[in-house]
Amino acid sequence: MVGRKVGIVGAGFVGATAAYSLTMTGACHEVVLYDINADVAKGKAIDIGQSTSYAPKGTIVTAAEDASDLKGCDIIVITAGVPRRSEMTRADLLMINAKIMKDVVGNIVKYSPNAIILCVSNPLDIMTYVVHKMTGWDRSRIIGMAGALDGARMAYQINQTVGYGSGQIRAMLIGDHGSNMIPMPEISAVGGVPLDQIVTKEEMEGIIARTKDGGAEIVKHLGTSAYYAPGRAISVMVEAMLDDSRIVMPSSVMLDGEYGYKDITVGVPVVLGAKGVEEIIELDLDEETKAKFQVSVDSIQEGIDILNENGFFE
Ligand code: 2OP
Repeated sequence: MVGRKVGIVGAGFVGATAAYSLTMTGACHEVVLYDINADVAKGKAIDIGQSTSYAPKGTIVTAAEDASDLKGCDIIVITAGVPRRSEMTRADLLMINAKIMKDVVGNIVKYSPNAIILCVSNPLDIMTYVVHKMTGWDRSRIIGMAGALDGARMAYQINQTVGYGSGQIRAMLIGDHGSNMIPMPEISAVGGVPLDQIVTKEEMEGIIARTKDGGAEIVKHLGTSAYYAPGRAISVMVEAMLDDSRIVMPSSVMLDGEYGYKDITVGVPVVLGAKGVEEIIELDLDEETKAKFQVSVDSIQEGIDILNENGFFE
């Protein structure tokens, strides 16, 4: 991929950590940070740029002065959006973040019409849907980051439970990035050994519960959302696309008949390569998992319905 320029919209903790991870792995030639607070983008770009002195490879790190500096990006990561505050309803939060997406996407379409978009803003699956509708691009170029993070959280819980297998744990999940996510221990493994052969049923239930609670647990301690694991997960996905390494990663993508659904963005395993989503892998789900997937899809559809009811897509 010529240029290997990555734009990051939203230079908060998640965006900046993703930028830092990308520079430390030397995955790209240039990272541009864009934030409505230009000083934050500038300060973090300088700080991360200075860290590249000790990186394996040089990376140019800049702050966008305005949206036109997002010109010619190969991949743009969207982390912009507001967190939910106590006085906000779910519908308020959805409308606020969807409007932010609309502005951001307008600029991306204008300045980087050939980019792949990696959406990280919450509520993740619904914001990924908004990005689809706002761009009208091929679904292969719009990807929501959730499974990479939730899978890392599940792998961590497995490691904490069994006490071995660090770096060898493969954890798979499908569904939404929320309370209806579906960890799949039956196709997860430690060093190739199926998980159900090394943990008890009770341990498995604990792993699933703590994975689902992964984001909330950190908020409870920190008072804010996680950013190291999200930032690293973003970086891994960007690296896979820039390197065309065609890794399998659960990601939120637009379904068009796969799993029996259409016009919904939800987490399923996909192949990530230079074109973005190169393939959607259809797992053979048992009846119980199909029912859970339906609940997960319904929870995402509810959010899309709220946007429709408020005339967002008109
Ligand atoms: C997380 O799961 C908030 O999506 C973020 O930590």
